[in-house]
Amino acid sequence: MLLQIQIALLPAGAAPFPGKERLSRASPVPSLLESAEGPSTPQMLILSCSSKLRLLEGTLQRGCRNTLPVYGTVKTINRGNPAVQEVLVDSWPEFKVFRTRPGREVASDDSDFYTNTYTVYYRDLGAHRALLGSAGLQDGAYEVSKDSTEAKGIKLEVFRYFTYFHPDPSSMPEIRLDPAVRLSSLDVSHADLLNETWAFGGNEKSRKYLASLIRHFPSVCLLDAAGHPVSWIASDPFGAMGPGYTLPQHRGRGYMGMLTNLIAKRLHALGYPSYGYVAMENYPMQRLQETQGFQRQPNLCYFILHNPAAAKAPTLTPSPAPGTAPP
Ligand SMILES: CC(C)(COP(=O)(O)OP(=O)(O)OC[C@H]1O[C@@H](n2cnc3c(N)ncnc32)[C@H](O)[C@@H]1OP(=O)(O)O)[C@@H](O)C(=O)NCCC(=O)NCCS
Repeated sequence: MLLQIQIALLPAGAAPFPGKERLSRASPVPSLLESAEGPSTPQMLILSCSSKLRLLEGTLQRGCRNTLPVYGTVKTINRGNPAVQEVLVDSWPEFKVFRTRPGREVASDDSDFYTNTYTVYYRDLGAHRALLGSAGLQDGAYEVSKDSTEAKGIKLEVFRYFTYFHPDPSSMPEIRLDPAVRLSSLDVSHADLLNETWAFGGNEKSRKYLASLIRHFPSVCLLDAAGHPVSWIASDPFGAMGPGYTLPQHRGRGYMGMLTNLIAKRLHALGYPSYGYVAMENYPMQRLQETQGFQRQPNLCYFILHNPAAAKAPTLTPSPAPGTAPP
């Protein structure tokens, strides 16, 4: 499951974007927050040189369990960058804070929470605090975001997830397919179905986002005799598995177990870490992950939605999917 969300106010200081410089400096801070910080806001380096990005990937791989979202994002960047993400570091080659964000080409609509997602990894919370405005995944990230936005009246919505990681998907058992279904990959024509069933879906932007996941990232699904998907799991620009769903009338037949097995192996074969997020109250999915040999990681993952229109109802209205509420 994805969604690490931040509002998409890209740097007002007309930050340089890759393609021009190999290693360029840019303000990392969304304009909203930049104005609060003034000129003392630290600068970030955009890392656009392919050999440096590969080096970064290697560095992140060594501690991969602690850096899963940023590591996964750097992987997708180094493999053609279909989601047009870019990497910023506070310094190079040593860095205390490292962040990914969408490139300007794709982040033109500030209200698009789906495309405007950021990941942050920091070795030093103080350095992260100095870079205000970053969405985060580590402990302390929420406090940093809260402190930096409260004074502006920006509403934060926080969703807490467990991260599940499989250390060796190649050791997962071979699956035996139910003859009632056929294995396939998702097709863009399935985007509406995903959009209707995804807890964060239901609007045009989410539909577009889901269609881009289907187009660019590995997915697996099970089709019924009529060729309609009954169960599926996609993957995202952070290299994470999800969203996943089984139609209510097809649940409890082992379909999602099979699909997580297959997508984990596929991602692993492509060199990605096999991991995903599960909401803290989604006990069925947590059990399923653990049965499959996924290990729950010690730190919680925070998806933080920065909503500038505090008075307005948020565009995203996630609700627990049927069958996932605590007993
Ligand atoms: C969570 C969800 C994906 C599970 O899908 P599913 O296809 O029913 O999952 P599975 O059938 O593989 O496994 C579910 C349970 O059925 C059991 N099961 C598997 N095969 C079975 C069979 N042939 N007969 C009966 N039960 C079976 C599994 O053992 C598992 O039970 P357990 O967790 O108590 O061990 C589904 O409930 C769903 O779509 N929920 C809403 C969306 C959601 O939460 N998505 C995940 C977001 S991270």
